[in-house]
Amino acid sequence: MIRLAKPQDISTIKKIEDSSFNKIYHEDKDFYIENVMNDNCWILNENDIDCGILIVEKKDNSFRIESVSVLPEYQGKGYGRKLCEFAETICPYDQIKLEVNTENKKAIDVYSKMGYTIDGISLDFYASKVDAFKMTKILR
Ligand SMILES: CC(C)(COP(=O)(O)OP(=O)(O)OC[C@H]1O[C@@H](n2cnc3c(N)ncnc32)[C@H](O)[C@@H]1OP(=O)(O)O)[C@@H](O)C(=O)NCCC(=O)NCCS
Repeated sequence: MIRLAKPQDISTIKKIEDSSFNKIYHEDKDFYIENVMNDNCWILNENDIDCGILIVEKKDNSFRIESVSVLPEYQGKGYGRKLCEFAETICPYDQIKLEVNTENKKAIDVYSKMGYTIDGISLDFYASKVDAFKMTKILR
């Protein structure tokens, strides 16, 4: 089941992100508060365990996956795909976009398998010398 996150879920969201990325991923707690308050954050619950999160960014003419992560012990079971496919159902546009660290080979492979293609690069996207590939999936 995928549910909209509420303020009381913020520590869970942060825990899932930090453990899946194996580092503190978003230092700024306001990032989570803002996304939850704007209904941009979703939680995947399987067998009563919150095991994955999806954060999206809705703009006037675009829709991005801001972040998707699954607890390490739940990866490789189709949950990342479930979250990304859910994002497609709430995307009001004909394409969905995301950025991914150019070093994150696994995520690039996962997104490619799900129909995303690389259509650009953003230099220094995450930090100095930490670049991102821009990926897009055409939905309709
Ligand atoms: C990236 C991530 C969200 C994927 O979630 P997941 O639950 O492990 O992925 P799934 O099990 O749903 O796999 C989705 C597809 O990718 C494939 N896949 C999974 N791991 C893979 C790997 N290491 N290499 C290549 N393909 C892989 C699966 O076979 C599946 O394809 P299929 O549905 O056609 O069989 C998860 O690994 C994660 O949280 N990683 C750490 C955080 C991160 O890097 N997030 C993305 C960057 S923002």
